[in-house]
Amino acid sequence: MASRTELIEAFRNQSRACAELGSPFMASLLETAAGELERSGSIAGLLASWLGDPVADAVPLRFAAALHALVLSGTAPELAAAYPSSGQATDPALVWRAALAAIEARRPDVESFLSSPPQTNEVGRSAAMLGGFLQIAKEAGGKPMRLLEIGASAGLNQPWDQYRYELGEAGQWGPSDSPVTVQAEWSGPQPPFDAAVKVAERAACDSAPVDPEDEQARLRLRAYVWADQPARMALLDAAVALVRRLGLRVEQGEAAAWVTERLRERAEDRVTVLFHSIAWEYFPDDTKTRIRDAVDAAGQDADMDAPFAWLRLEPPAGNGPGGGQPELRLTLWPDGKERCLAQAHTHGPPVCWYGAGEDTDHG
Ligand SMILES: C[S@@+](CC[C@H](N)C(=O)[O-])C[C@H]1O[C@@H](n2cnc3c(N)ncnc32)[C@H](O)[C@@H]1O
Repeated sequence: MASRTELIEAFRNQSRACAELGSPFMASLLETAAGELERSGSIAGLLASWLGDPVADAVPLRFAAALHALVLSGTAPELAAAYPSSGQATDPALVWRAALAAIEARRPDVESFLSSPPQTNEVGRSAAMLGGFLQIAKEAGGKPMRLLEIGASAGLNQPWDQYRYELGEAGQWGPSDSPVTVQAEWSGPQPPFDAAVKVAERAACDSAPVDPEDEQARLRLRAYVWADQPARMALLDAAVALVRRLGLRVEQGEAAAWVTERLRERAEDRVTVLFHSIAWEYFPDDTKTRIRDAVDAAGQDADMDAPFAWLRLEPPAGNGPGGGQPELRLTLWPDGKERCLAQAHTHGPPVCWYGAGEDTDHG
């Protein structure tokens, strides 16, 4: 069982991280919760007997999302009136009073929400991965892509080529009439916008996929968006609507078994692209080893007729959950050289694009 001190520290650390990631509301809410835990306030009864690791289980984010779910579902009108989405300036004391009242009134709902792992799907990560996809398209000579995504959640990064990107001074890319616009601060050179992109196939898996047709699943995904970040919420909603319209689905499957099976098949005249974002750290070690084995085998089998790319947006290896700024890394076979293309934010933007450089180490 987690000690009270560990729990309080997890809330304080998450509060600081939220402040750094542009969410003063979350920072304040989680700091207030940490203070209440310290004083053995009423939420101690809800959280103090947490059986797992509060950091690995992301307990502070579960707690904030449980409250946000009450707001979004319309089941806690007084809490909703105190939240940023009401359009009024938020008063932390008022928010906290309304939060405690809502927890008391809806305790079974809150407990049930807390008992499931977090579920997030960040569309903004497509902005960071876009440059990698374009680089692959360019180097594979415009061959149609066979896209394979693991840890895809609701699959919101699958139709990355259908989104419009506004990347500041680097320019725009994608269909100008797209219902989804991803805005990202961008530094560094322009990625190869002129590469010919054609997607022939898309497939994705997740051990716990989110069905975009399921209202409760959509609510859960929305609840994990921080309540004072309406632009992120609008992006999520627009992407969910597009994924539903396109009929894209994420298969239920364990990443290693799924990838091994898919990569066994060589795709002639296509470039096979295995990609993932902020998923690697959640895979068990055995899964990572088996994926690496499947990737090595596919790399050895690749040639100019059937190139193979491994594109990943993940925190630098070895830093543990949530550790370090995510890096966009690409290994493209047949030559099999690994490159670090960019550094990004946990939610995607801002993106620092290094270009198609050959070296793998940008610190
Ligand atoms: C933090 S989410 C990231 C989702 C998405 N890639 C994104 O960037 O928004 C990590 C995802 O990995 C999935 N996952 C964790 N372990 C897995 C496994 N062994 N096989 C497949 N998916 C897994 C989780 O269910 C979750 O949807």
